[in-house]
Amino acid sequence: MSAVALILAAGEGTRMKSATPKVAHSILGEPMISYVVDSAKAAGCERVIAVTGHGADTVQSLLADDVSVCVQEEQLGTGHAVMCAREPLVGSGGSLVVLSGDTPLLTPETIAGLVAMRESSGAAVTLLTAHLADPSGYGRIVRGRDGQVDAIVEHKDLTAKQQHIDEVNTGTYCFDASVLFAHLDRLSTDNAQGEYYLTDMVAVFKAEGLLVSAMSTDDPFETLGVNSRVQLAEASKIMQRRINRRHMLEGVTMTDPDLVWVGPRVSLGRDVVLEPMTFLMGQTRVGDGARIGPNSRVTDSTVEEGAVVDSSVVIESKVGPKATVGPVAFLRPGTVLGERAKAGTSVEIKNSVIGEGSKVPHLSYIGDAEIGAGANVGAGTITCNYDGVHKHRTVIEDGAFIGSDTMLIAPVRIGRGAVTGAASAISNDVPDGALGIERSEQRTLEGWAERRRRERDKDSDE
Ligand code: UD1
Ligand code: CA
Repeated sequence: MSAVALILAAGEGTRMKSATPKVAHSILGEPMISYVVDSAKAAGCERVIAVTGHGADTVQSLLADDVSVCVQEEQLGTGHAVMCAREPLVGSGGSLVVLSGDTPLLTPETIAGLVAMRESSGAAVTLLTAHLADPSGYGRIVRGRDGQVDAIVEHKDLTAKQQHIDEVNTGTYCFDASVLFAHLDRLSTDNAQGEYYLTDMVAVFKAEGLLVSAMSTDDPFETLGVNSRVQLAEASKIMQRRINRRHMLEGVTMTDPDLVWVGPRVSLGRDVVLEPMTFLMGQTRVGDGARIGPNSRVTDSTVEEGAVVDSSVVIESKVGPKATVGPVAFLRPGTVLGERAKAGTSVEIKNSVIGEGSKVPHLSYIGDAEIGAGANVGAGTITCNYDGVHKHRTVIEDGAFIGSDTMLIAPVRIGRGAVTGAASAISNDVPDGALGIERSEQRTLEGWAERRRRERDKDSDE
């Protein structure tokens, strides 16, 4: 097949009642329009062009570099939107697939089927239609006595006799590109909305004796157009089920799939277990046998095989094989946990490497640090990495033992196998195998507590 996809996305989406353009609203962490782009590419379209208008800069920033953009300054209708893309398209020949940026559930199979049907029938256009229980708001497919499509009539332009038609135009088409551009000037704004309707091309083609064909989808969800936040939630739900079903069939356990949200770019290994209230988003990869959740969010991260993430947040980080995270840990961008490493309870780590088998088990903040293998970081340890102006690095070498409640005042280095005394503020490097300790000596006052108790008892007797 030789096809180019044109995605119409210039509309405002008034019913979203939003400062964000409609196609920029997200479904499972990805902008709505990216689903349409991905489906077009997966269907085999060689080139993808988007027509933008409302919030053009925002929309363009969400598109991959290989998607080109035409700006429709004024939204004069779907036909006008296609006219705006004439320049990059004219003379390209082959099939032109026209899609709406607000139909994120359309599958590559359906797009490819539509192109195949047009190419085999040689039609000027092949429409994707659907039979809906409630067709209101949609353009209707008007068929002649011979059963052939004669025209598409917009809801607002329906005659009394056409009101009963339940076959609708889904807004997805495959045109013969050169035939389309040869006739596009014939569109007028002589209709209820005073717009150039792309749908009027059907009647134009018929008048020219050109062939118009139609393909009907049997999945009413696929063509769901998102016009409101209610439909956005519906589309998210359908996408969530679709994605979860695919992963479960590939060997992922979800104890309650309704409570697990997995983005479209996430890859999951076999025997991964996802507990309720788990969100896996962005470019995330989870290795075989890893367990995530409950109550966890992992974004743009890698969780290697056999690792466990419990009630934690992991962003732009790497969790090594059999490493453990949580409960209640926060791994911020640039964190790398080595094999069998541990980021335990109430631990925050940022831009740091925790080496193989090293443990940060409780109540710590580790930032801009490099921890070797087999080190142990005691409860309450904090890297004081920020002096108010600059960030400084902390290095903890292999096998070091950091006592509880150590303040590591960076830049500082704790040598191989070195130890720091509990409650020390360490601002000087500790050489290999040494002890670094910084705390004042303890005073012990014999009998002090007993004396105080006696005095208190005396006071309350009076
Ligand atoms: C359109 C169809 C209708 C179909 C319905 C399916 C027309 C005239 N009508 O109606 O037959 O049943 O889709 O959902 O085509 N857009 C632009 N520039 C414009 C106008 C629209 O880019 O000037 C884009 C919108 O952003 C949207 C798409 O085109 O992504 C469809 O436009 P919309 O206004 O939603 O058309 P509908 O009234 O839904
Ligand atoms: Ca629409």
